[in-house]
Amino acid sequence: MNSIRHRAKYTEGGAVQARRGPPAAKRPRTDVGAEQTGWPGVATRDTRVGGVGGRPLPIAGGPWFNVPVPKTFDQVGIAAVAEYWNARPCNIRHSPKDVGSREYFDEVEARKYFVEPHILRFAEFPRWRGKRVLEIGCGIGTDTINFARHGARVTAVDLSERSVEIARQRAQVFGVERQVTFHVANAEELSQIVPVEPYDLVYSFGVLHHTPNPDRAIAQIRRYTTAGSTLKLMVYHRRSWKVMEILLGYGKGRVWDLERLVARYSEAQTGCPVTYTYLTRGIPRLLAGFRIREMWVDHIFPYRVPEYTRYRYVRTWSVRAMPAPVFRWLERHFGWHLCVTAEALAPSGPPNHTAVKAQLL
Ligand SMILES: C[S@@+](CC[C@H](N)C(=O)[O-])C[C@H]1O[C@@H](n2cnc3c(N)ncnc32)[C@H](O)[C@@H]1O
Repeated sequence: MNSIRHRAKYTEGGAVQARRGPPAAKRPRTDVGAEQTGWPGVATRDTRVGGVGGRPLPIAGGPWFNVPVPKTFDQVGIAAVAEYWNARPCNIRHSPKDVGSREYFDEVEARKYFVEPHILRFAEFPRWRGKRVLEIGCGIGTDTINFARHGARVTAVDLSERSVEIARQRAQVFGVERQVTFHVANAEELSQIVPVEPYDLVYSFGVLHHTPNPDRAIAQIRRYTTAGSTLKLMVYHRRSWKVMEILLGYGKGRVWDLERLVARYSEAQTGCPVTYTYLTRGIPRLLAGFRIREMWVDHIFPYRVPEYTRYRYVRTWSVRAMPAPVFRWLERHFGWHLCVTAEALAPSGPPNHTAVKAQLL
């Protein structure tokens, strides 16, 4: 499969190793804004975000059908995004218990880490004891509380007032409220609300693909880092089982409508106003000013939705039909969560050669 042959593996130290495919120099160079997505005829959204210095990159046609990619999400108002997440904060139905009770929060956490166990590996909660953590898009605070429980001092931010309210309540329920400072703020204008100070870790899980201009959020995040600060970012992965399911299931193969379809069906509640997806090779461009240390994909949701909404875990027939190692292989190659760990470079440091090299892959 072509998509696998060209996959890049990022390792500690920023080195980029191509897995199996031909050496970078022999591969055809794709033009900015017209990289292939792995799905026929669809240009990547991520080629347009995160241009150097936050400058948007040009819009270009898809590689095969030459269809202009519409400017779908960067014109969406931030109020629409806030309204969507206020109407149903992320994971709020992870427990049927009373919202705000200890049992409720315990069940939310148990379900989240049962369904998304890779979060524990990614966040490395114990590592941040005694450190300063800035969490962008904390939602109802599952990871926030775990950073605090492990001894980190946390500043947690979300656009959704309702989410922050619940997360704040959660910190009180678990007695860590003195360790966490909450703010309702837009990541794209963070410095208007959150005092600019350096953090050891900036953590953002499943957030920046929902903001209309992720490159602006990254430029803001950069201000909260110093040379050596860590950035841990999870964004949605375009070359994924989930995108394929949306495209073939809901979309009946309408590749030209992919952006809209993915946004519509990416979350538990339909109609998310903004959902970008990324290829690994688009990430270095998004993360200007950072050196990528590690990048991997994981997570295919394996359960039947009707049972899942009733807190029962029944695997879909396609997942049941395949041996566990095959499913795991699929998760590691076509998972929905693209997890990136990067290190902030000194503001006046050398250009990010890792990023330049990675774009060739
Ligand atoms: C999918 S949820 C993830 C929440 C949390 N990180 C978690 O893993 O449970 C996305 C969150 O991003 C927040 N969000 C979206 N755009 C944002 C922005 N521009 N600034 C801050 N938060 C934002 C939403 O309000 C929502 O709570």
